[in-house]
Formats: sequence, C-alpha cells, structure tokens
Amino acid sequence: MINFIVEDRNGEQRPVEVPEGIGLNLMEVLKASDYDIMATCGGMGLCATCHVQVLEGHDNLPPVSDVELDILDTLPSAHDDSRLACQLRVDESMEGALFRIASEEPS
Ligand code: FES
Repeated sequence: MINFIVEDRNGEQRPVEVPEGIGLNLMEVLKASDYDIMATCGGMGLCATCHVQVLEGHDNLPPVSDVELDILDTLPSAHDDSRLACQLRVDESMEGALFRIASEEPS
C-alpha cells in the first residue's frame, strides 16, 4: 500500500491509502476519495483545476514536465511546491507525502 495525507480546503488532513500498481494518477484517486476536484479537462494537463500543493515529500516526486510548468505558470495561486494532480502517477514516490488541495472550489 502507498500511504499519503491529503489536506482539504478547510485544512482538514486525512490519510489516503492506495494499493500499489493501481495505475491511476493523483487526480483520479482524489476524485475517487470524494474530494471536490473539478478536473475539467479530464486529466489532460490543460485546465489546472486539479492543482495541489505538495507540502511534504516534494523532492521525492518526478520532476515537473514542461507542459505542467506552462500551465502552473498561468496560475496566480501557484507556489514552488505546486503540481497538477493529474500529471502525478500514484506510486511509491508519494509514500509519506502531504498534498493540499489548492484548486478553486467548484462552483
Ligand atoms: S485535470 Fe485538468 S489539468 Fe489536471
């Protein structure tokens, strides 16, 4: 199992446990765990509505791709530790990480 923590928009932290080799990205896992994420583009890396901040474990994750960086650059709320959840495959690199949901609330 891969274990990490997710902080919602209210600052509440909850552990999330995902079986290894599940082949999903973080956005899909967050949606499946009932987090309110729009993911308007369906995981194409285009809409930025799956924006998360990686508060812990940032250095263990694969580097940001140019495509991801281009989108993050358009976000006024992006930080150095921002990532697009749909561009992050859930694997061992996430073990022990802390993700904060940073995208706007769906309206
Ligand atoms: S779901 Fe659109 S950028 Fe991630």
